[in-house]
Amino acid sequence: MARRTIRLTVNGRAVSGEVEPRRSLADFLREDLDLTGTHVGCEHGVCGACTVLLEGEPVRSCLLFAAQLDGAEITTVEGLAPAGGGLHPVQEAFWERHALQCGFCTPGMLLTAVALLRRNPRPTEAEVRSELSGNLCMCTGYLNIISAVRLAAERLAGAAGAGGQGPGAGRQ
Ligand code: FES
Ligand code: FES
Repeated sequence: MARRTIRLTVNGRAVSGEVEPRRSLADFLREDLDLTGTHVGCEHGVCGACTVLLEGEPVRSCLLFAAQLDGAEITTVEGLAPAGGGLHPVQEAFWERHALQCGFCTPGMLLTAVALLRRNPRPTEAEVRSELSGNLCMCTGYLNIISAVRLAAERLAGAAGAGGQGPGAGRQ
């Protein structure tokens, strides 16, 4: 099948590739760009493990064809931490609240949570639960994940209230 050339921005970096029309975004990220933080579970849109941000919104990379995304901007879990080192505030909160066990679901959880907190900086517990309902976790029981997202929300809101100079200022 004829390959197509695509150019897109991934984690702030311009990348290009030649892909078969049927190649999923998940496979393009993992196999062509070596961004293996994007996990693949069900491969049919159910588990949320493959979640990445497309133009800032969470999408299931197993359900998108890379060839559709010429010119798009993608963020994967590798793009969350600041370039100078350390962790994104949502990652820090997951670490502090022990919001992961095997970690398979974690990249998708993190990206879904980051998108939620951008859109809704002070979500209620019900809103966090609703937003994360499309991301399945086999290990944690979810309570620590919800607790971590709410902790990150408090910190990010506190940083914004303090003039944006605190943790996460300027981060995605
Ligand atoms: S691997 Fe994409 S939703 Fe499960
Ligand atoms: S931590 Fe194991 S699937 Fe979520």
